[in-house]
Amino acid sequence: MTNDTVITGGTIFSPSGSFVGDIGITEEKITAIQEGGGLEGINSIDATGKYVFPGFIDPHVHIHLPFMGTNAIDDHESATKAALVGGTTTVIEMICPGPDDEPADAFAEWKGLAESGCCCDYTFHLAVVRFDALAKEQLRYLVENEGVQSFKIFLAYKGALEISDENLLELMQLSKELGVIITAHCENAEQIDAMQTQLLEEGKTGTQWHEPSRPRSVEAGGVQHLCEFANDTGASVYIVHTSCGDAVNRAMEARDNGVDVTVEAVVPHLVLDKTYAERPDFEGAKFVMSPPLRDMEEHESLWSGLANGSISTIGTDHAPFNFHGQKDMGKDAFTLIPNGIPSIQERIDLVHTFGVCKGKIDLETMVNACSTQVAKTFNMFPKKGALAVGSDADIVVYDPEFVGTFIHDDGLSKVDYSGFEGMERKGRADVVLLRGEIVAEQGTFVGKVGFGNYISRR
Ligand code: URP
Ligand code: ZN
Ligand code: ZN
Repeated sequence: MTNDTVITGGTIFSPSGSFVGDIGITEEKITAIQEGGGLEGINSIDATGKYVFPGFIDPHVHIHLPFMGTNAIDDHESATKAALVGGTTTVIEMICPGPDDEPADAFAEWKGLAESGCCCDYTFHLAVVRFDALAKEQLRYLVENEGVQSFKIFLAYKGALEISDENLLELMQLSKELGVIITAHCENAEQIDAMQTQLLEEGKTGTQWHEPSRPRSVEAGGVQHLCEFANDTGASVYIVHTSCGDAVNRAMEARDNGVDVTVEAVVPHLVLDKTYAERPDFEGAKFVMSPPLRDMEEHESLWSGLANGSISTIGTDHAPFNFHGQKDMGKDAFTLIPNGIPSIQERIDLVHTFGVCKGKIDLETMVNACSTQVAKTFNMFPKKGALAVGSDADIVVYDPEFVGTFIHDDGLSKVDYSGFEGMERKGRADVVLLRGEIVAEQGTFVGKVGFGNYISRR
């Protein structure tokens, strides 16, 4: 059989191991994989000396995000162009409505925005901020009819996104009944609020006080709290952006006791440390996110957690707020700095440079954490997350020999800075295919705006 396209001679990372061979694509699907090569196609992409990965999936992205008195600066077009040139072919965006918004309206709003602009495939975690009778009815509807398969809850952000214990218990019961996983931001809102108030009263208003206002104990306590509720209800939980060994350990204790808990790391916590947020002249604001950047030693806890399987996935928590005009809302008080460090474009190259090339994790773990395990956890496997016959032809031909530096000028996000400016970079997505179409080449977007499909995960 002649395929539409063949990718020849690369090292293919398939579910059954890695080997040199060819991949055949017809229309949107992978139609053949042959170790040793020999496939025929109308078009051909030479991958000799390169890796051939399944399209990467970012499990934690904010694009349309009304938050802390402003809105994240990207739109779906800019964020997903950035994702694609970095090798990410599917994103899971957080729908974050306000406490008065109806879930069905929020879902329609986010989906409408994504439909017109998304260049890569996409799906959503739906944040549960409102939880009255109407909201419950709509959540059920969205799960049963729109393919929503994951909720998001915040134990943090007092008075804004935080969920009460009463609602958390009931939501977990509902999630268990519906077979929906709960993704959770685990930091205790009350504790943070009290610490922030104390620090500000003492005149400690600079960016270096962000980490002390939400120490590791606040996060580890949040993880324990969530896992206790999961234990009582039998709900499945997924801890987002876990920043430190203490929090991972709490999750693993719960797992040992039978809780179905999955842990996510995000690239800022794997690569940056709290000294970045301590930079003078308000420069530290670029590095304010929550949970905060930690001591350098925590990098080791996170990389080893990935290597030993306690941490399953790597996302970005892309949350882009401009340094000028947005982050500077917090010039007089760190508590007013919109939280977030953008990295949707850099994720894979950062994991390759700082994880694989430094010997912290192997390539299989990188593929698993950045693609396969995300697809499995969030009901997209094997359509996504695998180089296998029948899967979507989302494929990254990756050049491990590329050497450069991360610079803001290369970025397609609208944000006005890069948190990784000037850092060494090893590796680059050479060719990126989404459902069989070439959408990015060597750092340039060549796809079509709006080509992204919504993935219903029912
Ligand atoms: O600092 C962060 N993480 N900003 C985005 C919102 C969230 O908590 O994920
Ligand atoms: Zn969060
Ligand atoms: Zn987030």
